[in-house]
Amino acid sequence: MKELDAQAKNKKLGLTFKPASNAQKIYVDPDKVREVILNLVDNAIKYTPKGKVELETYIKDKAFHFVIKDTGLGIRQSEVKSLFKKFVRGTGIAQVNTQGSGLGLYIAQRVVGEHGGKIWAESDGLEKGSTFHFYLPIIKASDIAVINSAAAKSASAEKP
Ligand SMILES: Nc1ncnc2c1ncn2[C@@H]1O[C@H](COP(=O)(O)OP(=O)(O)OP(=O)(O)O)[C@@H](O)[C@H]1O
Ligand SMILES: [Mg+2]
Repeated sequence: MKELDAQAKNKKLGLTFKPASNAQKIYVDPDKVREVILNLVDNAIKYTPKGKVELETYIKDKAFHFVIKDTGLGIRQSEVKSLFKKFVRGTGIAQVNTQGSGLGLYIAQRVVGEHGGKIWAESDGLEKGSTFHFYLPIIKASDIAVINSAAAKSASAEKP
């Protein structure tokens, strides 16, 4: 995150974070979810020449929501869904950033899906900024115990 902070400062972008007021612990694969967040923030900074990037988290309907909003290049309406496919990059984006592989959002969608959540993008169009949104359902500790004991049972059943 520090590195992204420096990237934002370099571009003179405002970078703000508004955490959920009723924050609570959630059960996730922390490394994978961190990668998703870093990729979304990295994208927002990379594809925003001027203005700001705002992160916000909140809890609603038993899900942890993460929203990242930028004032950048925006996304064509026809591409808001396809960008999550493997190796897909926006039309003309290679001129803005030559390095990207088009894998970041594909991986993000997979990780969010593995957690039972959803991810999507919104934009009013080119030059109008973009908003990426994902949520992860909040699983109760008691459910985790049930999952773990089921996993332990099936693991011991596999032993000869
Ligand atoms: N915040 C954003 N604003 C505008 N376009 C975006 C934004 N985030 C993603 N995109 C578009 O979605 C495409 C796919 O993003 P993704 O993160 O999958 O790949 P990438 O950033 O091109 O490469 P990589 O993340 O693999 O280095 C980008 O190439 C860009 O066209
Ligand atoms: Mg990316």
